[in-house]
Amino acid sequence: KITRREDYREPDWRVPEIALDFALDPAATRVRATLQVERAGTHDRPLRLNGDGLTALAVRVDGAEAQGWRMDGADLVVPLTGVAHVVETEVEIAPERNTQLQGLYASGGILCTQCEAEGFRRITFFPDRPDVLSRYKVKLTADKTRFPVLLANGDPIAQGDLEGGRHWAEWHDPFPKPSYLFALVAGDLVANRGTFVTLSGREVQLGIWVRSPDLAKTDHALHALKLSMAWDEKVYGREYDLDVFNIVAVDDFNFGAMENKGLNVFNSRYILADPDTATDYDYDAIAAVVAHEYFHNWSGNRVTCRDWFQLSLKEGFTVFRDQSFSADQGSAAVKRIEDVRGLRASQFPEDSGPLAHPVRPDEYIEISNFYTATIYNKGAEVIRMMATILGPDKFRAATDLYFDRFDGTAATCEDFVQCMEQAGGVDLTRFRRWYSQAGTPRVSATLAQEGGRARLKLRQLVPPTPGQPSKEPMVVPLRLKLFGANSGAPLGDEQLILLEDDSRELLFDNLSEPPALSINRGFSAPIIVETNRTAQDLAFLSAHDDDPFARYEAMQQLMLDTLVASAANGGADHGAVIEAVRNTLGDSRLDRAFVAEAVLLPSDSFIGDQMAVVEPEAIFRAREALRNELGKTLAGEWRAAYDGSRANRFEYSPAAKGARRLRTVALGYIAASGAADADRLAFDQFADADNMTDRQGALTTLVNGSSPLRDEAIDTFYRRYQGNGLVLDKWFQTQALSTRDDTAEMVERLVAHPDFTLSNPNRARSLVGAFSVNQRAFHDVSGRGYRFVADQLIALDKLNPQTAAKLIPPLGRWKRFDEGRAAKMRAELERIVATPGLSKDMFEQASKSLD
Ligand code: ARG
Ligand code: ZN
Repeated sequence: KITRREDYREPDWRVPEIALDFALDPAATRVRATLQVERAGTHDRPLRLNGDGLTALAVRVDGAEAQGWRMDGADLVVPLTGVAHVVETEVEIAPERNTQLQGLYASGGILCTQCEAEGFRRITFFPDRPDVLSRYKVKLTADKTRFPVLLANGDPIAQGDLEGGRHWAEWHDPFPKPSYLFALVAGDLVANRGTFVTLSGREVQLGIWVRSPDLAKTDHALHALKLSMAWDEKVYGREYDLDVFNIVAVDDFNFGAMENKGLNVFNSRYILADPDTATDYDYDAIAAVVAHEYFHNWSGNRVTCRDWFQLSLKEGFTVFRDQSFSADQGSAAVKRIEDVRGLRASQFPEDSGPLAHPVRPDEYIEISNFYTATIYNKGAEVIRMMATILGPDKFRAATDLYFDRFDGTAATCEDFVQCMEQAGGVDLTRFRRWYSQAGTPRVSATLAQEGGRARLKLRQLVPPTPGQPSKEPMVVPLRLKLFGANSGAPLGDEQLILLEDDSRELLFDNLSEPPALSINRGFSAPIIVETNRTAQDLAFLSAHDDDPFARYEAMQQLMLDTLVASAANGGADHGAVIEAVRNTLGDSRLDRAFVAEAVLLPSDSFIGDQMAVVEPEAIFRAREALRNELGKTLAGEWRAAYDGSRANRFEYSPAAKGARRLRTVALGYIAASGAADADRLAFDQFADADNMTDRQGALTTLVNGSSPLRDEAIDTFYRRYQGNGLVLDKWFQTQALSTRDDTAEMVERLVAHPDFTLSNPNRARSLVGAFSVNQRAFHDVSGRGYRFVADQLIALDKLNPQTAAKLIPPLGRWKRFDEGRAAKMRAELERIVATPGLSKDMFEQASKSLD
């Protein structure tokens, strides 16, 4: 069954108030709901309450047993005559048997909920759509020993003890909210507590709730929360609005975290950190996700979405906000590089494959499948482009207008764009195509010099995508600048130009020397740029461009051109890359984190994305050959970088992080050079490290190699962290990402490991998810990688369809490969589609991937 955006209709009934009463028990939880319902408009349609797997044990209207109610599929339909009624229902659910992790479920002895997008209907009967906003009163009753802490949205009202070892708590959320933001948690938890005083002087009680052994790992998250609260006040003028803000960490969670009003629930991997168990990447991700969920309090909760087609209204905007927050905490350039790397690794392939969809989709079968890189990350780029076009002051005026105008309501992407237009004084009519058209635009930029003049020809092409055979031109904001190819000096200021039609020409006069083109600086538009720049131009820009992002881009493009040529021809001249890397390594003015990013070669899969037919083995060989030559030729430089970034003891600061990053990158090149002492060096780093970044970095190098120390490292790591689920995920993942020939075999063995389970989503992703993005191993010509992943996904679908369906895309990329591989990939997709009892999540992803 397909849901279409154009079929949107206002709700028939509003529910201004709801009272929920939970008698909690893992095996059988009673849920009593009391809904104040009001007919919206003049119609005579009955009240329809969504359910999913619920049986109504009682239905009452205005205190009396309801007459004539019926089930329509999973929904409860209640005929009502007047305009306002009180409707009560009662159901029983079994959280401990909920393996989907949607609705009310149990994780490590904690009872918790996940309702977005449509999980609330697994808890109680309700019009489970984001444009029905209610005030919630929630009463929780549970065994006091097993569940001493009882949390829900909003502010705590009252609590007390009962006979038989039970107790209760009541919570009240004064802000009307849609059902997807409902949450409760019950468990044996402790809190790391803090306070935050808002701009207007209100004191907020903060709590990060975990099981007691984890308490020592929550300081970083609490600190990040305080920083986020201050940042949103300063940058967007947004203040927190309740007396308490609680975050709970659970080990079993389908994605990163959830912004439930006043009670965020997190995957524990985005909360728990200490130097011994979390990498710098983890620390950064924790701060980013804490910020993201906190920022949703305004972009998502105070202003929510009218329907799920508007998902990017809250997600794209909130990702843009968390990216800006992170950029403000350290190096903005490095943050931008990481975000663009992520966009290219996940969103670009999505946009060019069978699951491509617009930022505002037109239809879906299962909404859970649309929590994608396109909605989140391309959505963030769309917001960023509007911010670029408006400039900071007008953008702020526009977001003020948006929050002011739509506070307490359910809005649309169109509403947001209208605020941008009004406060920005701009016409975004054509710009709206970014919301409706899928596909990554390709822009070709050809610069031709004639004496003291130069002509830049820009041309764009938006490729066809499923259901959208032909496209209109997009509005592409391009920041560009010319540099003198002899002196390296700028030839004029940076310009922001808008490419709004198929093509555009720009003229540059009075050039004193030949120009080199710096374009799409800062990645001002989420596009693919093709230029006529030579290897020499790129090497030059990688050393002289004054925008660090553009410098990184020039280097990446140079590496990419070299690697693609090498993969296609079985070898290439590495000279220009080696010189550019040498220059970057030797430039002592550059921040270490930037250097580490800049000297890293593009990934196997990004190289593959540039080829007409992806050749995994040829790509791997080309990349290894370049790594080997870089390692050998710059042996002295890598040693110097390695030794120069050694630290005495762990510190979490931008400079220390940069040093660690460069150190592990250098170690990788030393190993790639085949240096005799590389394994020893890696093993010593592994054994002596006082932090997980260095330890895992060294482990990765060892796991990719064939030294006798390899098995010892794998074993030592396992024994040291046995019992720590988050670190064991790293152990599985590092092996699944190995570049060795026998990775497929190794991964097949690891599924039988006693610590492997499909019922924990992090664990499933750490092995199956990681393996399926290991281009060389997954695409082993035998097809065993495909078979392995399909087997696992079929098994996972029976437990947790949402998590299984998210892992389909690598199999869906069959069109990009040779016939032999494509046929084998298709065969696995067909096997999945033919599986009896397949979920609609998996059906949608797998069947669309076959088209
Ligand atoms: N709103 C959450 C966040 O971005 C994620 C919810 C994901 N839901 C889903 N059904 N996949 O912070
Ligand atoms: Zn979000």
